[in-house]
Amino acid sequence: AAPLRVAVLGCGNVGTEVVKLITERGDDLAMRIGRRLELIGVAVRRPSLPRPGIDAALLTTDVDSLVRRDDVDLVIELIGGIEPARSLIITALEHGASVVTANKALLAEDGTTLYAAAEKAGVDLYFEAAVAGAIPIIRPLRESLVGDEITSVMGIVNGTTNFILDKMDSEGSSFAETLEEAQALGYAEADPTADIEGFDAAAKAAILSSLAFHSRVSSADVYREGITEVTAGDIASAREMGCVVKLLAICALTDPDDAGERAVSVRVHPAMIPRSHPLATVGGPYNAVFVESRSAGRLMFTGPGAGGQPTASAVLGDLVTVARNRLRGAAGPGESSYAQRAVSPIGEV
Ligand code: HSE
Repeated sequence: AAPLRVAVLGCGNVGTEVVKLITERGDDLAMRIGRRLELIGVAVRRPSLPRPGIDAALLTTDVDSLVRRDDVDLVIELIGGIEPARSLIITALEHGASVVTANKALLAEDGTTLYAAAEKAGVDLYFEAAVAGAIPIIRPLRESLVGDEITSVMGIVNGTTNFILDKMDSEGSSFAETLEEAQALGYAEADPTADIEGFDAAAKAAILSSLAFHSRVSSADVYREGITEVTAGDIASAREMGCVVKLLAICALTDPDDAGERAVSVRVHPAMIPRSHPLATVGGPYNAVFVESRSAGRLMFTGPGAGGQPTASAVLGDLVTVARNRLRGAAGPGESSYAQRAVSPIGEV
């Protein structure tokens, strides 16, 4: 049988790892899917950069032609950002490809458009890697728990800020010096604004709450406060009260005990949590998501929330899943038929 043809858009940290895994683990993946995968192109901006372990013949700067090819089965978008990623994903879907993406900013800003395009084309749009790296949290919310009623989702979804707050706690150091340390270790970006001001966590919160509450929450709906104002003194006072300070993404039904109309409230801000809470034990660069639902009760998902290899694990999981669906002529969960729940005005709880 003809192999399933795969195009990868973007070849940074995660893309490089994904391309390597598809190449090196070809036999394993073929066994799990029931068909071989064939990499037909990797779109990059700078083809002259050295990329050890990647076949230079696969590299192309012509990303538009790659997503317009009708013989592409699976497109993996790892460019990030809003444009051109959105147009490229939509074009790929319109040409009948199933899409795997790690693009949290785009899903949080305009997931509705992407879901609709996938639904219309009858193909898959999977994005496990968009929130909390390797941690399976999208599929649990979108599939495993979809028959339950989720009442709240609380997460530590930014590794950089968790590392900083953790260090400030264990070493009594200031925000500024700990940020420098995080940057030196490669956790924080050179421009760490998206991490420390909470934009990264807010995008993830928008995606999680949209899935958990079958709603449409975008980044702009999320109340957001970063960690730049947290002082060593705040952390010491929290400690005296038996608490730790974490940057939390808090997504909740505004009136979970009432059977009537419920809205969704989504916010990201530093919060004190008792040391006995499961989220308090999540240290360093790790992520965790704590889910409460009517029937399942309390669940916690934790692990590495960033990094090339962990994120590639989530991408490959999606790739195998959409490949399997495609061979069966099926598509996984769509979103466009979901009931819309109102989203509370920013800041209102
Ligand atoms: N900068 C993010 C973090 C990377 O620190 O968690 C993953 O989105």
